[in-house]
Amino acid sequence: MAVTAPVDLSVADLHPALGDPALTSMNFLNEVSERYPAAVSLAAGRPYEEFFDLAAVHRHLDTFHRHLIDELGHRPEQARRLLLQYGRTKGIVHHLIARNLAVDEGIVIDPESVVVTVGCQEAMFLVLRALRAGPADVLLAVAPTYVGLTGAARLVDLPVWPVAAGPAGVDLADLRVQVRRARAAGCRPRACYLMPDFANPSGVSIDPDDRRRLLALAAEEDLLLLEDNPYGLFHLDDGPRPPTLKALDTDRRVVYLGSFAKTVLPGARVGYVVADQRVAGADGRVGPLADQLAMIKSMVTVNTAPIAQAVIGGRLLEHGCSLVPANTRERAAYARNLRHLVAGLARRFPDRPSRPAAVRWTVPAGGFFVVVTVPFAVDDALLDRSARDYGVLWTPMAHFYDNTAPVCALRLSVSAVTPEQIDLGLDRLAALITDELARRAPSSVC
Ligand SMILES: Cc1ncc(COP(=O)(O)O)c(C=O)c1O
Repeated sequence: MAVTAPVDLSVADLHPALGDPALTSMNFLNEVSERYPAAVSLAAGRPYEEFFDLAAVHRHLDTFHRHLIDELGHRPEQARRLLLQYGRTKGIVHHLIARNLAVDEGIVIDPESVVVTVGCQEAMFLVLRALRAGPADVLLAVAPTYVGLTGAARLVDLPVWPVAAGPAGVDLADLRVQVRRARAAGCRPRACYLMPDFANPSGVSIDPDDRRRLLALAAEEDLLLLEDNPYGLFHLDDGPRPPTLKALDTDRRVVYLGSFAKTVLPGARVGYVVADQRVAGADGRVGPLADQLAMIKSMVTVNTAPIAQAVIGGRLLEHGCSLVPANTRERAAYARNLRHLVAGLARRFPDRPSRPAAVRWTVPAGGFFVVVTVPFAVDDALLDRSARDYGVLWTPMAHFYDNTAPVCALRLSVSAVTPEQIDLGLDRLAALITDELARRAPSSVC
């Protein structure tokens, strides 16, 4: 729709991040799906909705309320105030998050190093805001990178330097090169952001040996690691999960970012950060980085809604603070869908001489995402055509790279669909790819 109304402000006079592709990406993708509501969405990374249960929300709230009184010894009026009044900046479920991390991940931390945030997104923002002290500071991030991280970095004027993922999830040699290159250019790499488990968007996980090597490299190069782990519980195979970086972290190198959006409820908007790095504050007192983050939070969201925290806290309490048994059904549904999608791709693009050589896909060991590589550039115009003419949505991988170079890949998500929708979506995607291959001369960029 053309804008004809007179304008009062120019975007050029607002923060330079406004209008940046990192900030417009999510809106663009939402707009496309709103414009084509009948299209099958293999784009949305939102969790499966069929298990959402409004009655359970009330129960969780009650459970946490009882916990305040029966286990923490609060008087009824104190408990009421804790739930309904403004509250502690660092949150009121920090002790349960610490217990959850101990039970599920073997991460042992002081609850005082936790800040409960409005989703993991706020946690990322707080950490980047704190780390960006001056114009020489840069953030390293394994590319392709979650666009929410890139957008948050833009808002705090922190340039993001890509580090190659390689087939192993992080190219350690490239990480060292980038750290040194940044320093040689007079920049200060403050941290490297990465997702060791079923990364969004790549789906790739870092193996346990590389996790240890990564920590050793971070120590050698004196670098912080920002570990984001929203998908770690959703592994395909039974058996032990690899240790998180934070579980292996013996010298406080890792800032751990957590989200309850996928493991409890996205509508609660609760996440957290574990920041146990020691900081001498302005008053000379030494405390965890979490205290500094809380100071920033007090000027951004004041505190995370205690009612929302109570819902998360109640769910944790009802499962002995473990989200593993609490997500049995969810894990099974995501695993079923992921297997179904990978098998469906193999059926539609069989490994025969007639198969277009350059149609390939990742086979992740868990999580929500599969990346399909094709022999032509995949851009927003193609997505629009895919939605309009073929009735299927996906995410151009170009959205996860912080440059304008053409990218010949797209991300498929299995989290918010049924196997039947996956079949339909893949039929439509296969038709699109076949037509594109017939229509286009081989691209020199792919
Ligand atoms: C890798 C990653 N980090 C963070 C987030 C944001 O999490 P939250 O919904 O808790 O803000 C997401 C959401 O999809 C994500 O994929």
